[in-house]
Amino acid sequence: MSILDKQELKDFFAAAFGHAPELIVQAPGRVNLIGEHTDYNDGFVLPAAINYSTWIAASARDDRDLHVVARDFGSQRVVINLDSPMQQDSDASWSDYVRGVIQELKKRNYRLNGGNLLITGNVPAGAGLSSSASLEVAVVRALTELSDESIDPTDAALVGQAAENNFVGCNCGIMDQLISARGQESSALLIDCQDLTTRSVSIPRDWEILIVHSGVKRGLVESEYNQRRAQCETAAAFFDQQTLRGVELEQLLAAEGKLDDLSFRRARHVLTENARTLTAAEALSSGDMETLARAMAESHVSMRDDFSITTPAIDRLVEILQTAGDGQAGARMTGGGFGGCVVSIAPASVIPKLMQAVEQFYEVDTGCVPTLIPAKASKGAFSL
Ligand code: GLA
Repeated sequence: MSILDKQELKDFFAAAFGHAPELIVQAPGRVNLIGEHTDYNDGFVLPAAINYSTWIAASARDDRDLHVVARDFGSQRVVINLDSPMQQDSDASWSDYVRGVIQELKKRNYRLNGGNLLITGNVPAGAGLSSSASLEVAVVRALTELSDESIDPTDAALVGQAAENNFVGCNCGIMDQLISARGQESSALLIDCQDLTTRSVSIPRDWEILIVHSGVKRGLVESEYNQRRAQCETAAAFFDQQTLRGVELEQLLAAEGKLDDLSFRRARHVLTENARTLTAAEALSSGDMETLARAMAESHVSMRDDFSITTPAIDRLVEILQTAGDGQAGARMTGGGFGGCVVSIAPASVIPKLMQAVEQFYEVDTGCVPTLIPAKASKGAFSL
């Protein structure tokens, strides 16, 4: 879907509800440059919010109902009573993200007003670019603003994550919601997921981000994801730790052969990925492409061999980008894995070469159809 302007959004809202909206909020999707499956291990991540977002136009109602229209799901409409217990709706599963957010805001004693909501967006769904986190964060903002409540961006992210963990059923970490809430223009954010502190890392002015959707449909994501998380917890427990952040790489390496091989490899990915993420953040801030490209390449290998979350087509796509970049571009799979997107970053002058190589080789080699998604690091959720 193309990017909407504010007037179009107001028109859609008026068509759905017969009056003008009182507020419009926007929350972006994200691309993760490096630091994969480290967030729920209390580790480091380096994502950027992108210029693809979820928008919500809203107005208050006098009753206790929320009327929600999802423009991108055939303008399906659901009515949710704020005072009733929240239940999943298999006929409108998109609305579970709204219901989950309501449940979590209520748990935290936020006042909630009835309202009319029109939701739309252009974050590609099921691509690993966090369309669901952007929806959760947008809903948190819309509902709190409608009720004259204020919420800190980090708390908004925590509410979104809790909605996904407790209501939707995916045991995700905090990265996606936090970058959607706190992203900064032209920058990535180095997040320490242990205490949620962030450091903005500006992207060199003449560098650009190119996301490529592999055309590989993400499958079994939730079950595989939750399984990886459980495997990491098993590895941490071997060292009497809650998470792998409490384990040093030397300690892990010394345990090879004592810890079962699968847990060992999962943990090795996480601990080496933490180190690579810190290295990559330094390299990005100093414009050191050679180091960044190496860290991203090693990250991909580690996701492929130790964490087992890539697919052969995606491995090929990364190889095509790396070869075309010839040391002048970083490339790796981004997001939870099992399909979805690859992220590359390079000086603007190198980007056309990357695009050309993808178009020339990828479909021929794999039978999968790529989509090029040029992206800009953008600011986190805001009201228009
Ligand atoms: C998904 C989750 C995140 C994170 C990534 C993997 O996007 O929502 O919390 O774990 O996968 O890095």
